[in-house]
Amino acid sequence: MKRVFSTHANAFVGKTTTFSGWAHSVRRMGKIVFINLRDKEGLLQIVCSPDSGEAYEIARKIRPEFVLTVTGKVAKRDPKNVNQELATGSVEVVAETIEIISESKTPPFEIVNEDRQASEELRLQYRYLDLRHERMRYNISVRHKVALFVRNFLNGKGFMELHTPLLSKSTPEGARDYLVPSRLHKGKFFALPQSPQQYKQLLMVAGVERYFQIAPCFRDEDARADRSPGEFYQIDIEMSFVTQDDILNLVEEMFTAMVAEIFPEKKFTSTPWPRLTHAEVSEKYGTDKPDLRQDKNNKDELAFTWVVDFPLFVSQSKDDFFHGSGAGTLAPSHHMFTAPKEEDIHLLDTDPAKVRSYQHDLVLNGFEVGGGSIRIHRPEIQEKIFDIIGFTKDQKKQFKHLLTAFEYGVPPHGGIAPGFDRLLFVLLGEKSIKEVVPFPLSSEGRDPMMGSPSKVAPGQLRDLGIKLDKSE
Ligand code: AMO
Repeated sequence: MKRVFSTHANAFVGKTTTFSGWAHSVRRMGKIVFINLRDKEGLLQIVCSPDSGEAYEIARKIRPEFVLTVTGKVAKRDPKNVNQELATGSVEVVAETIEIISESKTPPFEIVNEDRQASEELRLQYRYLDLRHERMRYNISVRHKVALFVRNFLNGKGFMELHTPLLSKSTPEGARDYLVPSRLHKGKFFALPQSPQQYKQLLMVAGVERYFQIAPCFRDEDARADRSPGEFYQIDIEMSFVTQDDILNLVEEMFTAMVAEIFPEKKFTSTPWPRLTHAEVSEKYGTDKPDLRQDKNNKDELAFTWVVDFPLFVSQSKDDFFHGSGAGTLAPSHHMFTAPKEEDIHLLDTDPAKVRSYQHDLVLNGFEVGGGSIRIHRPEIQEKIFDIIGFTKDQKKQFKHLLTAFEYGVPPHGGIAPGFDRLLFVLLGEKSIKEVVPFPLSSEGRDPMMGSPSKVAPGQLRDLGIKLDKSE
């Protein structure tokens, strides 16, 4: 018989129907066995009494997390037994046959335990069990809905979703790279992209004009509550022939519509979202990520804020390794492709620290949930920026492809990359960004389930021409 999802049971009252799923909980009351069957849609109560013959004998053996197929008549529950909290709370299935498809050991932590008391290590080691928890299933389903919304919205605005390479070259976004050794070119390395920044700009030179991608980004950074160690996703967007306002308006329209559809219970602190300058927020709030909620205890309040007019440069700290020009020199505040404000260009030669840029950050409830800018499209300005940040000839050479591309008809362009995981983390009010990622790395940058990173066979290293330092 065709399998029906739990939440459709209401439409099958009086009919013999088949359901499959996991035994979420098993209770016995007198001689009756009650099983809460869980599938991807929800829960459904199965009832089995001694009248069910063989099915009853099987029901008595069922323990939590067994996988079952149950066939029985869907019946209306007695009004006093209706469970208002369940979508299927007014019906139950009177089991006629039960098949145990697979058994389960006792899980290392309770799936139904709302307090999530298990350690991070254990939860990640058994992530496939952790993901069975209702909240985790909800979080990943929202993840899907937001991704789908964004795709449909941007498609409707004439954007093309394109994948850019993962085996790439180091992009200087300020973090350490993940390197991938090349077998065919021994001693050389690919880098996993910290973001598709250069590719998306090259797509603008290619004439794509409107690009987006829910893009994986790789940064070898330490974990924080709002920062994934290793990898995360961005809603990466780039557009040609636009002003900064065009980009801000697009994102504001997209997320306003997304919240209305997916989080209708949530309300914005103010609309349109405030657009504040970096100088203003720094002076008034002492941070460039102000939390402008009126009631910080209200989980349904969303204070989106734009911050613009950042300084183009910041003083480089001595642990800034990305181009190693050393302390004392200037480093890009965002990244080196961000354009100086037109009216400040003359200061590049005289007082570069005073130059403001077309960088824009999107802040939500005190978290930076997106960043972008209008880009430099004039090769001579890009060269000047390289000089100001102290690039050597060799370092400049690494960006020759971009400057060359700009010699062949480059449109003015700009974009933004809202952090997909970080946005979900704030919208869902989670304690850690890991709660919105199906298979995150641990805080220590490991995957306790797969056991990665791991040693590799000596032959694999030989193929790559790599010798490990014995002391490591
Ligand atoms: P940026 O480095 O500011 O810009 O990143 C954009 C957004 O990505 C999110 N983000 C992260 N989320 C989770 N874990 C991390 N480790 C992490 N790092 C960043 C943040 C951030 O605002 N190429 C540019 C974008 C552009 O200029 O268009 C870029 O990557 O929400």
